[in-house]
Parts: sequence; C-alpha cells; structure tokens
Amino acid sequence: MLYLIAMPTIESIMPLTQGEIHVWSAHLTATPEQEHQHLAILSAAEQARAARFHFPMHRQRFIVAHATLRLILSNYLCIPPSEIIFAYSPHHKPYLESANPRLLQFNLSHSHELAVFAFTLEHAIGIDTEKVQEASHESIALRYFSPQENRDLQQIENRRRGFYRLWSRKEAIVKAVGKGLSIPLSSFSVSFNEGIETLELENEPWSLLSLPIHQDYETALASNQTIEKVSYWQLIDQLPKLDNVSRFCKL
Ligand SMILES: CC(C)(COP(=O)(O)OP(=O)(O)OC[C@H]1O[C@@H](n2cnc3c(N)ncnc32)[C@H](O)[C@@H]1OP(=O)(O)O)[C@@H](O)C(=O)NCCC(=O)NCCS
Repeated sequence: MLYLIAMPTIESIMPLTQGEIHVWSAHLTATPEQEHQHLAILSAAEQARAARFHFPMHRQRFIVAHATLRLILSNYLCIPPSEIIFAYSPHHKPYLESANPRLLQFNLSHSHELAVFAFTLEHAIGIDTEKVQEASHESIALRYFSPQENRDLQQIENRRRGFYRLWSRKEAIVKAVGKGLSIPLSSFSVSFNEGIETLELENEPWSLLSLPIHQDYETALASNQTIEKVSYWQLIDQLPKLDNVSRFCKL
C-alpha cells in the first residue's frame, strides 16, 4: 500500500527502515549569518563551487541546498556534517563512500527557491523538482519528449503543468539510474499517472511517483524498488540548526 505521510516537525524524524523512502524539502533562503554558518560546513570543493556563482542569490541557494543536505545526512549517519565525504559516479551522481554502514542512498534536486532531498537504504533513488513557469515549452517537448508523451500532452487541458509533470518524472528516473542525460530523454516514455508507475529502463524495473510537495512545483521520485512508504519533512522556515546535528542518529 502506498502512503505519503507529512511530518510536522524536524523533531519527529524517524529511523529510516528497509523499503522506506524519506523526502525532505527546504526553502533556499537564509540570513547572511545563516549563509555564513552554512558555508563553513561545506567542503573546500563545494566552497569553491559556491564562489563561482555570479549572482549572490544563486550562490546562497547553492550553499543552503548543500549545507542542508549535509545536515540531514549527519542526522542519519551520526557524524558531523562537515565530515561527510562525497564520492561521484562517472556521470557526477554524488554518493556516500565512507561512514555509510547501511548503504544510505540519497539524491538532491533544486529549482528556484525549493530544494528536495530523498533518502533510502540499499536502492538507487532519484528526485527532481521543477518550478512551473509561464513560458511555453512546446519546442522543448518536441525535442526531448517521446512521440507518445507528445501525443499525451496534446490531449490534456493544462499543457504547461503537464509539461513539468512529465519533465520532472523523466528527470527523476534518469537521476535514479545515475547516468544523467547520456540516456536520451526521448528514448523512454512516462505518463501523467497520479499513482505509482513502473517502467523498464537500462534493463531494470523502476518505480515512479509524483509528490504534491508544493503547488508551484512538479516533484517526482524514482527508485529501483517498489515505492510503498514515503515520509515527508518540510524545512520551509525551519532550516536545520547547527546545534541539532547528530541528535537523532537514525540508521
Ligand atoms: C543531473 C541532471 C540529470 C539533472 O539536473 P537538473 O534537473 O538540472 O538539476 P537538479 O537540481 O534536479 O539536480 C542536480 C543535483 O543532482 C545531483 N546529480 C548530479 N549529477 C547527477 C546524476 N548523474 N544522477 C543523479 N543525480 C545527479 C547533484 O546533487 C546535483 O546537485 P548540484 O548540481 O547542486 O551539485 C543533469 O544531468 C542535467 O544536466 N540536466 C539537464 C536537464 C535538461 O536539459 N532537460 C531537458 C528538458 S526535458
């Protein structure tokens, strides 16, 4: 049975058990003091990436997203956020190499002011969020969506929303597989399905679900396990505090 449970506070974090998926969202704004504190827990490589952003707003979003990822991970792994070491697949998907006794898998997506994070044990996971925008995306759909998806899109009333629904679902799968856009987006089809959709990609079955996280965004989750239980924490207006770190140790 499928259920999405919205958790009221960060204090209600529960252990992540086999077969479960935890999803978190965060609002990517911070005071200058918070930004400074969050920058300090990033690695030298992440700090260097942050420094390369031209616009302060983009730099701040990057810092908050990556510091929040470290803060959430530190709660699962029981290690300080600054000590988490990421490794990267050949297609740049980040994963945990050390201090990861139960093979915690994660994925991150950010769009405008929203970041979403997904965590599970021992299975590949991908998440994607896209802000629904005004512009028309017909040419992008023709270029990147499959003929079937383009036909489906023509059948629905709200094509703008439909475009982002399909895009986020396609990106979530591609991100779960981890091969990025080396998998041509037009080579497979997803649907507008409200429930769980299963499809095969790269010789593996994948489970796909859109999540109603924020009305202005389309968000989708994909994994190579049957998605059954998704628990959700919203960090909007309550960035994880640095002194909360490792209080829960939930693995
Ligand atoms: C990873 C990718 C598939 C998605 O990127 P995106 O949708 O732009 O960005 P998201 O915010 O959802 O995800 C980025 C995060 O995913 C993670 N990531 C990076 N490479 C990844 C990969 N190969 N697989 C899974 N996750 C990856 C990183 O944590 C990254 O965060 P960072 O950039 O802050 O370090 C990327 O390859 C890409 O280039 N996308 C372009 C999208 C596009 O052009 N679509 C055409 C229209 S349909």
